[in-house]
Amino acid sequence: MKHDLSNILLALAIAGASAGTLAGCRGDREDAPPREFFPDLDNQLKWTPQSKSEFFADGRTMRGQVAGTVAFGANAFNPADQQGEWAKAYAAKREDLLRADPAIHQGLDADGKAIRAIPFPVTMEFIKQGQEKFNIYCSVCHGYLGDGKGQVGLKWATPVANLHDPKYKKPDPNTPGGGDLYTDGHIFRVGMFGLYDVSGNQKMPGYAHGMSAKDGWAVVAYIRALQASRDGAIDDVPAAERPALEKSKAALIEQAQKAATAATGGAK
Ligand code: HEC
Repeated sequence: MKHDLSNILLALAIAGASAGTLAGCRGDREDAPPREFFPDLDNQLKWTPQSKSEFFADGRTMRGQVAGTVAFGANAFNPADQQGEWAKAYAAKREDLLRADPAIHQGLDADGKAIRAIPFPVTMEFIKQGQEKFNIYCSVCHGYLGDGKGQVGLKWATPVANLHDPKYKKPDPNTPGGGDLYTDGHIFRVGMFGLYDVSGNQKMPGYAHGMSAKDGWAVVAYIRALQASRDGAIDDVPAAERPALEKSKAALIEQAQKAATAATGGAK
């Protein structure tokens, strides 16, 4: 009996002591950091953004770019050991950035005038590259056909250019007095850097943030192809290609007729 009682007293004493310890922590003011039983990696020596550095003379932890270097995005990239398909876009961008050619990057000649012709060989692959970028960046306003009837374009504050308007066609250098305005270089510059009115208000944003210079030129090639396609006659198409073209035309007409029937609920 006596034995049992002392056990109970001991248990109570232990419970009381531990409760006292825990309660003692609560609500107390304490300048020392809290006790950590499992520190894991909670506290590390590091400089956080905007904090003061004791290491750099200017006291800034956030460092500016080193003079004479080119910023390259967040990841270290070595084209030699990154050969996968995914790496191609990075490699192209890198190559692009390291080339300081005003004709390619600004679309300007030595006199600061927009260059007349695309400074890359225009191949089918190049035009397709342009089609991809045009459909991503330009079609929302200019429409997939370039006619200015994209969904955003229809609601845009400034009426969007219809790229089939004859004035946007590539100027003929042989036309006296004509043709300095809508050169390939000008179209490139508008696509990359945007369009502003005389008082500096933006009418169209530029898309250089999303396209490399080569993409920008490819878009110009695609716009020229869109323009040519509208003016084209069947005689421009090589005879061997005509049957395939007629077939796809028939399929498109059928598709359009079906859509029209569906839209009118099949009413005759
Ligand atoms: C957000 C809508 C919008 C998008 C997207 C857009 N444009 Fe435009 N673009 C305009 C408007 C608006 C105008 C007409 C401005 C004017 O002439 O008043 C215009 C005009 C142009 C012109 C005629 C320039 C001139 O000097 O008159 C070209 C060329 C052109 N855009 C190319 C492009 C290309 C290339 C892209 C894609 C890289 C693109 N645009 C994307 C709105 C857009």
